[in-house]
Amino acid sequence: MRANLGMSLPVMAATAAAIVSPDGTGRLPALGWNSWNEYACDISEDVFIRVADLFVEYGLQELGYEYVNIDDCWSNRELRRDNVTGRIIPDYVKFPSGIHGVAEQIHARGLKLGIYSDAGTLTCGGFEGSLGFEQTDAETFTEWGVDYLKYDNCNVPEEWTDEYIFYPEHTDNAVPPPGYWYGDSRTAERYNAMRDALLDQNRTVQYSLCAWGHARVETWGNETGHSWRMWGDIVPEWKGQYTYSWGLVPIITQAARHWNDTDFWGHNDWDMLEVGNGNLTLAESRTHFAMWAAFKSPLIIGTRLEGITQPVLDILRNKELIEFNQDPVYGVGVRPFNYGCHIPIPNNETEHPPSHYVGSSTKGIHLFLINSYESERSIEVAFEEVPGLRGLGEDEEYIVHDMWTGKDIGVFKGSYTAAIESHDTAALRITTIHGE
Ligand SMILES: *[C@@H]1O[C@H](CO)[C@@H](O)[C@H](O)[C@H]1NC(C)=O
Ligand SMILES: *[C@@H]1O[C@H](CO)[C@@H](O)[C@H](O)[C@H]1NC(C)=O
Ligand SMILES: *[C@@H]1O[C@H](CO)[C@@H](O)[C@H](O)[C@H]1NC(C)=O
Ligand SMILES: *[C@@H]1O[C@H](CO)[C@@H](O)[C@H](O)[C@H]1NC(C)=O
Ligand SMILES: *[C@@H]1O[C@H](CO)[C@@H](O)[C@H](O)[C@H]1NC(C)=O
Ligand SMILES: *[C@@H]1O[C@H](CO)[C@@H](O)[C@H](O)[C@H]1NC(C)=O
Repeated sequence: MRANLGMSLPVMAATAAAIVSPDGTGRLPALGWNSWNEYACDISEDVFIRVADLFVEYGLQELGYEYVNIDDCWSNRELRRDNVTGRIIPDYVKFPSGIHGVAEQIHARGLKLGIYSDAGTLTCGGFEGSLGFEQTDAETFTEWGVDYLKYDNCNVPEEWTDEYIFYPEHTDNAVPPPGYWYGDSRTAERYNAMRDALLDQNRTVQYSLCAWGHARVETWGNETGHSWRMWGDIVPEWKGQYTYSWGLVPIITQAARHWNDTDFWGHNDWDMLEVGNGNLTLAESRTHFAMWAAFKSPLIIGTRLEGITQPVLDILRNKELIEFNQDPVYGVGVRPFNYGCHIPIPNNETEHPPSHYVGSSTKGIHLFLINSYESERSIEVAFEEVPGLRGLGEDEEYIVHDMWTGKDIGVFKGSYTAAIESHDTAALRITTIHGE
């Protein structure tokens, strides 16, 4: 193993070993901003510099948001690669300072820069991809000062198609032979090639696999990257599907099925945030942010920061939810209980994810209660039914704290009933009156 590596890969044992970076990069879910959801291809270097300035101005940096990420469409679509060095050529009309120049300006603000490429011949937008050019591109990106790579999954050539295709949205997937491990799939091979190229560089790069849950990425992603997309793209709508894109509740339902695939160093990624975008109401935006934080997904803001409204900014700046997401001691996110934990969530369920979730942090036991229905509902929680509180006795008194207001609601015995607006989520912290 080389000295001074930004990342190191422990000797591969029979059990999954993660990419563990001495500086802690990737141990907790990434916090940042990405251009795609709001700007798509309409990007320029000013967009990113402005975001960096607003991260500082709005106190987002202080809360831990650090990555300013360029998504697709940053390179020169005609020239593609330098015909001598083989390096991808940036679009100097959009980025007059080059990516290196942008990195310098982002770093000067104490923030980090992310870039985007694809484990295929072309990106999803038809720009140059990195398949077969992993070493060159890893070298180029790190020389530019890139700190984060989102690695997409479009335009995969025929010869790289998996032997046993697995797409999480499909019910007719190939059945591999018993004992087959998807870490041996060609999808894993494509993503591992970039991992190895990044590990060869003398720079720590947070590696975000955008493999859409294909080839059961959650079973091998921990050995390959720091986070892995689990599903198709998100759209700023409460429910429904639009070709490859989905509203919030189908994604939350899938996340509830996969609650235990996330831990330190490796995170299910439920896609970038749509808080502030489209038609999402404030209640829906609260559910979105709370559940992404609760599932320990990366929290990558996807909205325009200029002119952002105060209530939307307040959701993105919820300190207690960010602290839950970034807890230094508890790496696993919330899990559903009562419904969806022991009883499998039906395959055809797309509108009503489990309503009750529980998780632990250094501050106590946390409950997340989703009202996926069209009118206000009261959701009751009997403390005896909450894993972690169970068995403390029926006379135990609990302080119920509201993570949205940052205030204690009161002291309760037996049960607590939350009145929850349509499509909203109660985010609660429960401690006993003796402070446990
Ligand atoms: C290489 O690219 C340059 C432009 O960057 C162009 O002028 C030149 O003709 C190219 N050479 C070849 C051999 O394609
Ligand atoms: C690796 O990077 C560090 C920090 O930038 C630097 O101090 C060190 O000299 C570099 N090592 C090599 C082998 O280039
Ligand atoms: C997750 O839970 C399921 C059953 O609840 C279990 O089969 C599986 O092994 C668990 N996975 C991990 C990574 O703990
Ligand atoms: C990933 O690997 C690390 C280090 O080996 C381990 O602590 C963590 O639990 C793993 N995460 C997942 C999701 O398996
Ligand atoms: C917003 O809602 C309206 C009607 O409810 C719908 O026609 C429109 O497509 C929605 N737009 C977005 C961006 O979701
Ligand atoms: C799912 O399937 C079950 C059994 O076939 C059916 O009873 C239920 O109504 C379906 N639910 C949805 C949301 O389609």
